[in-house]
Amino acid sequence: MALATTENTTTSSSGRADDTRDRRFGPAVALSCRECGARYDLGPDFACSECFGPLEIAYDFGRVTREQIAEGPTNIWRYRSLLPVPEDVASKPNMAPGWTKLVNAGNLARELGIRSLHVKDDSGNPTHSFKDRVVAIAVEAARNFGFHTLSCSSTGNLAGAVTAAAARAGLDACVFIPSDLEQAKIVMASVYGGRLIGIEGTYDDVNRFCSELIGDELGDQWGFVNVNLRPYYAEGSKTLAYEIAEQLGWRIPDQIVIPVASGSQLTKVDKGFKELIRLGLVEDRPYKIFAAQAEGCSPVSAAYKAGHDVIRPVKPDTIAKSLAIGNPADGPYVLDIARRTGGAVEDVTDAEIVDAIRLLARTEGIFAETAGGVVVGVLRKLVASGTLDPDAETVILNTGDGLKTLDAVAAEARPTAVIRPSLDAFRAAIA
Ligand SMILES: Cc1ncc(COP(=O)(O)O)c(C=O)c1O
Ligand SMILES: [Zn+2]
Repeated sequence: MALATTENTTTSSSGRADDTRDRRFGPAVALSCRECGARYDLGPDFACSECFGPLEIAYDFGRVTREQIAEGPTNIWRYRSLLPVPEDVASKPNMAPGWTKLVNAGNLARELGIRSLHVKDDSGNPTHSFKDRVVAIAVEAARNFGFHTLSCSSTGNLAGAVTAAAARAGLDACVFIPSDLEQAKIVMASVYGGRLIGIEGTYDDVNRFCSELIGDELGDQWGFVNVNLRPYYAEGSKTLAYEIAEQLGWRIPDQIVIPVASGSQLTKVDKGFKELIRLGLVEDRPYKIFAAQAEGCSPVSAAYKAGHDVIRPVKPDTIAKSLAIGNPADGPYVLDIARRTGGAVEDVTDAEIVDAIRLLARTEGIFAETAGGVVVGVLRKLVASGTLDPDAETVILNTGDGLKTLDAVAAEARPTAVIRPSLDAFRAAIA
């Protein structure tokens, strides 16, 4: 990993064409350390060799206008000028995720006593979770670095997004999950081909194993989307912020509730909003970010409530398996963002998650997976405690599809009645 010099990157905003920037990465100019600010050339690197802090992408955006963006396709590539991808990215085989619905959730708002509420429904993505966004950027990085195999450690949704994207891109796939995941997630991760390895242990064990594999010749030329490609991958979540703002008429909402596993999504939504403000694409006004966890895996919420800056890892025990990361890499940044923006971190029990899945389904016709249940449950709790302003414009994320976690609500699912096909029988049944 080479420290970047000023000769091969530019920090000007002129967007000039004569620099020596690597055009495969679009407006990205370097990797920069989130802790000490050290800059490195763009490569498959994820940790600072000076201080071991996480690396993220630094850009020289030049001029970006709303009109330019509006001319783009109705998927995440409309924001390609804000992502580490080449200009022609949309023409390559890819899953083209994004531009999911922002649903005006008036029924749920009325039920909870909120004035204005939208659900950003990412269950509409190609493999039915927001993970298609992050993987789309990671695939481009894998191509750029010449990797032949796409891989990941996953709590379920990412594994499906990776095997699907690899199939479409013509890459091999080998993905790793805890062996006790929901059946639908196992089916999705295996149906697209590639190898699916179940590991006996938690997600944190899976992740540790993948870090070992990266250092071994077995994993040579492999792009682990959420490890050695993490700086690129993570940028995909910024598109949630861009889409929400554009779909609201180029406005950032007053407050937003986001589920947290590793915390990457939440930190990148914040980065996305800040970029829109800096580029003058939206008005500069305050917004609050609220983080949502399941009580059975709530290390960030526990630290927030205790007033700590350090997050103590936990062993997960919750039905919200997609959020079951006991040692979240971006946890400290989530704490910072919640505190800095005037938001909060809250958690809900498994029973509250199931209730919330049913509430969203019966009020808005949206069937969320357990992660969405966590968000709606936390929203309800934050309103009840007066922590979230019911008069402010609110957006919540539904990051995955309820069909992936049917077991969560299966116990109470049955026909209202089973009858003979006769009017009399029906009359009796509904009396
Ligand atoms: C459906 C769903 N929502 C939210 C998350 C949390 O994402 P992050 O790890 O970026 O916090 C995940 C992570 O796997 C997920 O699968
Ligand atoms: Zn550093």
